[in-house]
Amino acid sequence: MSATRGFGVDIGGSGIKGCVVDFEAGALDGERLRVPTPQPSTPDAVADVVAGIVDKFGWDGPVGVTLPCVMKRGVALSAANVDKAWIGTDAAALFAERLGRAKEEVVVLNDADAAGLAEMRFGAGAGKDGVVVLLTFGTGIGSAVFLNGELVPNTEFGHLEVDGHDAEKRAAASVKEDKDLSWEQWAARVNRYLHVLEGLVWPDLIIAGGGVSKKAHKWLPLLDVRTPIVPATLKNDAGIVGAAAAASAGLRP
Ligand code: BGC
Repeated sequence: MSATRGFGVDIGGSGIKGCVVDFEAGALDGERLRVPTPQPSTPDAVADVVAGIVDKFGWDGPVGVTLPCVMKRGVALSAANVDKAWIGTDAAALFAERLGRAKEEVVVLNDADAAGLAEMRFGAGAGKDGVVVLLTFGTGIGSAVFLNGELVPNTEFGHLEVDGHDAEKRAAASVKEDKDLSWEQWAARVNRYLHVLEGLVWPDLIIAGGGVSKKAHKWLPLLDVRTPIVPATLKNDAGIVGAAAAASAGLRP
């Protein structure tokens, strides 16, 4: 019988959030706990916070953890908005040790991949076949690609080169804030980015995620793209929900 509850931790540049997840509801089971990300966000310092969060909930089952990193078999191969010391770190082994668990009970995956898993199972992507691309617009741009519901892990579409620039440096939600762009100005940048993306990947559906998806009505209607595009439905909880789901399924990206 598959588990009805799991535990997910979502690690970002400014906050580390964790909660028990109810797989029947496809949502958090109660209030999540958020702890500011330690600075510098070294593997040891972050692992202490993760262990503290899991302890607070008294959770003793499998744990899923996201990192804003390319993840291969538990090892981080890049690091965006977290300390560069993550690169080359066996994050799954580190968390397993801190959490007092077998390595098989801890799954570490890319943050956007986790958000995508949550949307495909419980949100805007449920039941969608073909090629689905989830994009998270936040500090950077994260991506998750699914073919008939199966994740193709570690796509890094936030780093597509668009007009000579790293795409996320022009079109992430943080750029809208930093440069004080209007919705129209920012949507024009996102539109240009999506044209490049859809010309390379030809998705059947794009799901727009990240905090800014809460205001989807302000910018999705301004886009002029070929691919159907819909807002994510799990909003800020997608990373936690997807991480928990990955761990309970024993996924090993
Ligand atoms: C990173 C991705 C990450 C995304 C969102 C990008 O800068 O390269 O790995 O998923 O930011 O955090």
